[in-house]
Amino acid sequence: MLNFFGENFVTTEKVRAGTGLTGGLELPGDKSISHRYAMLAALAEGTSELKSFAAARDCHSTLGCVKALGADVKVDGTTVKITGHGLRGLKSSWRTLDAENSGTTIRLLSGILSGQEFTTKISGDSSLQKRPMKRVVGPLRQMGADIRAKDDNFPPLEIRGGKLRAIQYEMPMASAQVKSALLLAGLYAQGETQVIEPAKTRDHTELALQYFGAHIETRGRTIAIHGMADKNGAGALRAQTLDVPGDLSSAVFFIAAASLLAESNLYIGNVGLNPTRSAILDFFKGMGAALNVLNLASKQGELVGDLAVKGAALRGGVISGELVPLLIDELPMLAALGPYTEQGIEIRDAGELRVKESDRIAVLAENLKRMGAKVQERPDGLLVEGRSAGKLHGAEIEPHGDHRIAMAFAVAGLAAEGETVIRDAHCAGVSYPTFFQELRRLGEK
Ligand code: S3P
Repeated sequence: MLNFFGENFVTTEKVRAGTGLTGGLELPGDKSISHRYAMLAALAEGTSELKSFAAARDCHSTLGCVKALGADVKVDGTTVKITGHGLRGLKSSWRTLDAENSGTTIRLLSGILSGQEFTTKISGDSSLQKRPMKRVVGPLRQMGADIRAKDDNFPPLEIRGGKLRAIQYEMPMASAQVKSALLLAGLYAQGETQVIEPAKTRDHTELALQYFGAHIETRGRTIAIHGMADKNGAGALRAQTLDVPGDLSSAVFFIAAASLLAESNLYIGNVGLNPTRSAILDFFKGMGAALNVLNLASKQGELVGDLAVKGAALRGGVISGELVPLLIDELPMLAALGPYTEQGIEIRDAGELRVKESDRIAVLAENLKRMGAKVQERPDGLLVEGRSAGKLHGAEIEPHGDHRIAMAFAVAGLAAEGETVIRDAHCAGVSYPTFFQELRRLGEK
């Protein structure tokens, strides 16, 4: 990363054993929801106000892209006002859009850009340039978009948008990003686009589209959306005032940390608890976590609530099959908790982890071994042995630029012997810029 003076700087964070996390925590706004609200606000008519918008760098990459496409974006702290000019109101950008580290930005925008009457180039950082795009490019081509990609799979993408046709697409993999790209393209297609999921994934796109006034319906595993961009379509998306719930995937690092330390007493307010995201809470409870959900409420169709967490001995467990897409972003934290659990953690059917912000299977195995854990790396997962394999010791952690790896190992370091050094710790800002400050604050006696 370059600093203000254009110099390279690397930040490291040091973590030592703690006894408990105590106090209250307000999380940054949910990353997935913020991306979707920003994109739909840019396609709506009028000014939307998005409160508690994510601090995550990824969501600010989305803001940069929609701004380059002609939406008016004003950021005031965590409130973002976006003025859109309707589904046909985007303008071509003279420069290549920069999705930076954000897979959600490039994949979801690919769907929107496929429906435009102009050509857009979009790319990102070195990690994003290694992530597969064929999964969205393939079905978007079936809808009629003309898309070029490096080696027909990787960014940069050149998207020549145009008239789209509605398709019925049975997804070969469970991916909220692919589903969302096709639903957003479906806004521009004539007729009903249908996407069939092999397993349930997060449904924030469906909820947000409905809220902004799109015609969308979920029938079992099929999600159907009606095109509305053309003359015979049914009209426009309407600007909204929305409040983004706190990010459960960010909360998970603190739930894990509080569980690990016996003297913890942590209260996390206003957390997004959408049922397609909250399987992690059931998993923690199943492992024996002292975790309670309070004050459930609904915000614009999204469930929210507070969480109270105390220290508890964790049993460990197996994550496989349909649970994998529901816990996909929480797997780094669960794997890094493995050595502190009674039975260890086993992850199967999760080959997808190899094409996230880093090859998370390899990077988890590498760093767990550095801390003295017993780990078996497999093509589609990991077996991390539990407490009987020995106590972890502090080590130098290399997150390979992956925010969730940096945060997961900072938490693991809280219960290890000696000091853990997280190299390149600023990468946590991709989803949680104040993570280390909050961890220090809640750990202070
Ligand atoms: C996301 C979907 C998931 C997840 C990512 C965010 C989203 O990716 O891993 O961090 O906001 O739609 P996939 O849909 O590719 O599994």
